Amino acid sequence: MIPTLQWTPSGVRFLDQTRLPLEELYVLATTYEDVADIIRDMIVRGAPAIGVSAAMGVALGVSKIKADSIDAMRPELAVICKTLAETRPTAVNLFWAIERMRLRFDELSRQPGINVPKLKAGLIYEAQQMYEEDIDACRTMGSYGAGLMPDEGSVLTHCNAGALATCGYGTALGVIRTAVLRGHNLHVYADETRPYLQGARLTAWELLQDGIQTTVICDNMSASLMRQGKIQAVIVGADRIAANGDVANKVGTYGVAVLAKEHGIPFYVAAPWSTVDLDTATGDGIPIEQRSAREITHFNGKQLTPHGALIENPAFDVTPAAYVKAIITERGVLRAPYPEALLKMRG
Ligand code: MRU
Repeated sequence: MIPTLQWTPSGVRFLDQTRLPLEELYVLATTYEDVADIIRDMIVRGAPAIGVSAAMGVALGVSKIKADSIDAMRPELAVICKTLAETRPTAVNLFWAIERMRLRFDELSRQPGINVPKLKAGLIYEAQQMYEEDIDACRTMGSYGAGLMPDEGSVLTHCNAGALATCGYGTALGVIRTAVLRGHNLHVYADETRPYLQGARLTAWELLQDGIQTTVICDNMSASLMRQGKIQAVIVGADRIAANGDVANKVGTYGVAVLAKEHGIPFYVAAPWSTVDLDTATGDGIPIEQRSAREITHFNGKQLTPHGALIENPAFDVTPAAYVKAIITERGVLRAPYPEALLKMRG
């Protein structure tokens, strides 16, 4: 299991994903502000990992509050939650996790015999529960999704929806991992995923550690590989799934979905239920993060574009539900029509 993040007595320890694949360095967050910076700067990234990181950030922040009553802690709790919620707008797991911690604070505060130390310990336990649940959910998604992978062939993935984007097993890459463990003979094409190169740097790194044959391609190459019949399936993760089944994921995913449809290749999404946002009716309602132009104008500090060139850098795009063959969750596999399937799975 790749230690994407870990709760430790001295803070939250993160594997610094900005230094991968060539350096394996860890950073220790000792305050909730550190956790917020680590999420914003993408030292940790990927929707489920962002969610659990925020939960650990809330637990860490609350553990440091100097108060002799639970009510006296509430103003600082609000500041902690607001700071973490303002880090990145698209991955709904972030808001799901913060709300879960806030609700747990309220539940604990109403328990008979509760006091400040017990409440602090209760929140740390809750964050660690979310960590364990993420790993279980990814393994369960692996089981549900493995059978959808070709017995033999190549699977394309975009961005990194693996151990590094979760608490250690991965959503889309968890499905690939489980399929390989079950004997499927799979090769993976990993889109490099400009501008942050999550595919070239992170997906290739973690799949190679598993001995899963992986080929890194530029994002503009999958079309011709599909036309040559070299890709049998596509599987990606998600940052938010709207109530109608539209899926937000790393920018470039929509293009891959259109190509897959054009070539008759199944396009799958793997994501935990915490990525489903039934309060957002369609993909048009999903906030898309705009990141700094420098991610495009520079590479490793070297300027690539001429001065004065205009830049757009949306970090995510939306794939309409019509392009999605199935959504694999830990609750089971969803198929169209998604509005009904999602409501039924919500229960
Ligand atoms: O900007 P990032 O690296 O956080 O974007 C990550 C993605 O788009 C992933 O595909 C998504 O979060 C799913 S992770 C299991």
